[in-house]
Amino acid sequence: GWKMENVMDEEIKVINNMVGPDDHVICALSGGVDSTVAATLVHKAIGDRLHCVFVDNGLLRYKERERVMETFERDVHLPVTCVDATEQFLSKLKGVVDPELKRKIIGKEFICVFDAFAKELENNLGKKSAFLVQGTLYPDVIESCPNQELEELTLTQSKVIIMLEVRQLGRILSVPYSFLKRHPFPGPGLAVRVLGDVTEDNALDTIRQSIKDAGIYDSIWQAFAVFLPVKSVGVQGNQRTHSHVVALRAVTSQDGMTADWYVFIALHCFALHDWCNVYVPHLSQLYTNLTFDPFSHLLTPKPKFSFSSCNFEREFLDDVVQKICNNVRGVNCVALDITSKPPSTIEWE
Ligand code: XMP
Repeated sequence: GWKMENVMDEEIKVINNMVGPDDHVICALSGGVDSTVAATLVHKAIGDRLHCVFVDNGLLRYKERERVMETFERDVHLPVTCVDATEQFLSKLKGVVDPELKRKIIGKEFICVFDAFAKELENNLGKKSAFLVQGTLYPDVIESCPNQELEELTLTQSKVIIMLEVRQLGRILSVPYSFLKRHPFPGPGLAVRVLGDVTEDNALDTIRQSIKDAGIYDSIWQAFAVFLPVKSVGVQGNQRTHSHVVALRAVTSQDGMTADWYVFIALHCFALHDWCNVYVPHLSQLYTNLTFDPFSHLLTPKPKFSFSSCNFEREFLDDVVQKICNNVRGVNCVALDITSKPPSTIEWE
């Protein structure tokens, strides 16, 4: 029968056939599950002829670089070179608003960084690198591959190891659980979660930290904030403000191919009693997937729901919104995205 151990052995054979005994391989490490598993697999096959590179493009999650470097050293034991390319990426993105162009620029800059690294490896150590390893999500392989150039250089694309199995393979390769359970993150990083020009100072990590605190991280596929180039009128500190809107998106998914928005219980709020009258048709449509009657509370004076912890509760969302409005400069409005995939995708751009 089919066994992941066999898949692993097969892959190691394939890699060894492809990579000559004197060839060196560079691995683009993102710190996510795919590239970590890919790197561990290739390392098992060719040992220290593998050279991992982690690029800080200035578009990473809060303290991501420190976190990845630390955990790689401590738990994965693969040598990793960290390249700080923040300036290089951000200067190229300056003033760029078009999402496709953003992705292209970022893809190209990655290539430049890896190119430079390969040249350095050859000049300094006389090691010629023949391949670049990139771990990619299955939906990206299927739906579109924005990084065409990267694809041509790819050795172990996820076409061999599909998304669902990558975690299983990771377990066999003893990749630490902390890597295996991480939420996927787009290659272009926060650039595709800051709509428009990527210049704003964005402390948009709030929702991730909050869901960790709430203990619901593992039941969500991805949760993130999208910084919008839209301004909304508000009052903050007794002053009328025109500040930006941030959208929150949280989805559950098995493989990223389809996704459901993560249920939040707005109806928990007693105050909604009033506007339920207005919005009932609309809301009932939203809640058709639920297994309880969201309107039952209209019949009782004080609604009491015992929802499982896998739902966003009013209190939780209030907390996140408050943190965002208080801590993220230039934001006074938070919206919640309740679209599933399809028709949406997971990212906004
Ligand atoms: P979409 O938004 O296309 O995303 O439904 C599917 C999955 O891929 C992630 N994503 C990316 N991953 N490079 C990546 O490596 C990218 O350019 C990219 N764009 C989206 C997204 O977060 C989701 O998990």
